Amino acid sequence: MRRKLVVGNWKMNGSRAANASLLSGIVAGFDAAQADSAVCVPAPYLAQCEAVLAGTPIGWGAQDVSAHASGAYTGEVSAQMLAEFGCRYVIVGHSERRAYHAESSELVAQKAVAVIGAGMTPIVCVGETLDEREAGQTNVVVRNQLAHVLERLDAYGVAKIVVAYEPVWAIGTGRTATPEMAQEVHARLRAQLAEKNAVAAGKVQILYGGSMKPDNAKELMAQPDIDGGLIGGAALKAADFLAIIHAAA
Ligand code: G3P
Repeated sequence: MRRKLVVGNWKMNGSRAANASLLSGIVAGFDAAQADSAVCVPAPYLAQCEAVLAGTPIGWGAQDVSAHASGAYTGEVSAQMLAEFGCRYVIVGHSERRAYHAESSELVAQKAVAVIGAGMTPIVCVGETLDEREAGQTNVVVRNQLAHVLERLDAYGVAKIVVAYEPVWAIGTGRTATPEMAQEVHARLRAQLAEKNAVAAGKVQILYGGSMKPDNAKELMAQPDIDGGLIGGAALKAADFLAIIHAAA
């Protein structure tokens, strides 16, 4: 049985003061028996997360990473640098980076490999746009996105990733995929993982992201291949984030 994992993606939100309040609220209400959890924050706040969360069961991480190990890459942050701040997870290939920064699936794959190489877990994001769904391309799109990552991993590497299915049309819109729609894609992603390593595929956590909220989380995570959530807006309120974690129990 896979442990549920609920990860908050704060995106470019927060401040030191607001984060202190949000983090203390999450710590105060977190029950590790219900699910594993982590928050992925803007890089400047990693030291704050480490100071507050070290010693608790709540992990922390980043929202992006360089594919490079070091060198003349102004503005980029290496996987090793993130690991130095105790990061457990790094989101790679979020649709907002694919869209706004023209990140290719090949670059996402390189980033995932760099994260694993630094001893952390990449949260590999895949998902289709509304146009792609309406054109019946959902399965082809997400399969191709994940395929680039799997091509760069050996069979053992499959066990070292988390996958997040985030239909782009559901992100930040309040228009959530139905549990059945999400489960169908999750099952296909797990089957694709199994093509590389059937045993590991049964252990990989596949998260749903896209307007997961306290009022829909339980029904979504009751699906056999939905192992948790990657949460945006609802992660910015401790009560809502904790309610989603509670719904995972
Ligand atoms: O990475 C998670 C995020 O894209 C989902 O955002 O606000 O729809 O929960 P939201």
